[in-house]
Amino acid sequence: MASPDNIIVGSHVWIEDPGVAWIDGEVFQISRHQVHVRTTNGKTVVANISKVFPKDTEAPPGGVDDMTKLSYLHEPGVLQNLATRYELNEIYTYTGNILIAVNPFQRLPHLYDTHMMEQYKGATFGELSPHVFAVADVAYRAMINEGKSNSILVSGESGAGKTETTKLLMRYLAYLGGRSAIEGRTVEQQVLESNPVLEAFGNAKTVRNNNSSRFGKFVEIQFDKNGRISGAAIRTYLLERSRVCQINDPERNYHCFYLLCAAPHEDIKKYNLGSPNSFHYLNQSKCVKLDGVDDVEEYIAIRRAMDIVGISEQEQEAIFRVVAAILHLGNVDFAKGPEIDSSVIKDEKSRFHLNMTAQLLMCDAQGLENALIKRVMVTPEEIITRTLDPASAIVSRDGLAKTIYSRLFDWLVEKINVSIGQDPDSKHLIGVLDIYGFESFKCNSFEQFCINFTNEKLQQHFNQHVFKMEQEEYTKEEINWSYIEFIDNQDVLDLIEKVHEKLT
Ligand SMILES: Nc1ncnc2c1ncn2[C@@H]1O[C@H](COP(=O)(O)OP(=O)(O)O)[C@@H](O)[C@H]1O
Ligand SMILES: [Mg+2]
Repeated sequence: MASPDNIIVGSHVWIEDPGVAWIDGEVFQISRHQVHVRTTNGKTVVANISKVFPKDTEAPPGGVDDMTKLSYLHEPGVLQNLATRYELNEIYTYTGNILIAVNPFQRLPHLYDTHMMEQYKGATFGELSPHVFAVADVAYRAMINEGKSNSILVSGESGAGKTETTKLLMRYLAYLGGRSAIEGRTVEQQVLESNPVLEAFGNAKTVRNNNSSRFGKFVEIQFDKNGRISGAAIRTYLLERSRVCQINDPERNYHCFYLLCAAPHEDIKKYNLGSPNSFHYLNQSKCVKLDGVDDVEEYIAIRRAMDIVGISEQEQEAIFRVVAAILHLGNVDFAKGPEIDSSVIKDEKSRFHLNMTAQLLMCDAQGLENALIKRVMVTPEEIITRTLDPASAIVSRDGLAKTIYSRLFDWLVEKINVSIGQDPDSKHLIGVLDIYGFESFKCNSFEQFCINFTNEKLQQHFNQHVFKMEQEEYTKEEINWSYIEFIDNQDVLDLIEKVHEKLT
């Protein structure tokens, strides 16, 4: 790898640009540490020599399918290569055995059809164009040939395409390990159909992504000794609970709420629902509709997916009753009560929603009301009941809604797992981890903090494997190797973990 020191007058270089990230140009003057560059867009830029990177003028015009083939493995070189390939509709590129996918933001059915699956089946890695199927194929072959379990980690920022990629991996594994023509529902069919169900309850529109997963997911696909899928388990973590009660414009709440509001007339009547605009938990954002999504059709599709996954009609009924109850609960408002720091149900409308909530949850309305406007504290000596002011009653209400929703979600996952069934005799599995995207807001909630912490832990795991181990290998073999610099956040992770240990 060339060092910046090789840069001389006449060198072709990459230099930072506020508009396009990196722009190429030619060095026409060097004075001490300052490099003067005439860029290809006709500007003259001066920068410190450490901020300027050599450009490979002999790079193939169509880019390279594996970045280890690049002469210079630096940020502008990598980005240039990905951009060149993307222009040519090549969304996949390797870096050794890591696959980089650039979100195409359009359906590319020809990339994922049965013909493609046949092509990648058993093909040597690197022989065909880079593809997500090739990664799954390697994992599967290693499992069959070496008898070891594997995990595939899908990572990237929010909206990058993690969940779509995870689904493609699952689809390909189902293709490899599936059984054809078995009566009824097959394990792989159930695994695939669990996606729409989980997405209806765990995904929402965010600023970045109309179908953003608000939970992490680790899918274990278990195989028998013949390499056939014999069971599966879905593990989820860190569902974003706060979204149930609080959404920012133009985001949406979880899809299931809108689907239910678009349900057939008899269901709407049964649950006493109205338009999404009439519910506090939904109307905090002006966005209720998603472009290109028909909630009426989606509702029917979800009910069908639930059938396939093994959720009975009666259970489906109960699930949507809970969803409706949460919407009604959010419309229960409070007014100041006669005593200080006390509250009452605000008006007839709130009373109606309280009664509806109680009816749907099959609990006593008076009991529910008391639970919302009073707090019970148990001390060793006595049980103290204290009234709550309206603001505190709202906190109770929202806390109840969040808890009910996250328990419903956990119940759904458990139900799907029981229904798909695990294979206790399975020796090998392939895990696919769809991590919950790292995000950094102006103000990050505790939930976001936990998510980001998880991401950092996984990044660390990735670093251990990819960089640290590689570098140790090179050092051991005494190969001259200029260390790739990467940001190591281990210190921060240690800090958070140590604080956590102290507190618990
Ligand atoms: N391979 C792909 N083919 C077509 N569209 C894709 C692909 N990957 C991502 N997308 C599009 O990008 C959107 C966001 O992708 P998603 O996987 O949900 O992101 P993430 O999980 O990383 O937040 C998807 O809803 C889809 O429209
Ligand atoms: Mg996702």
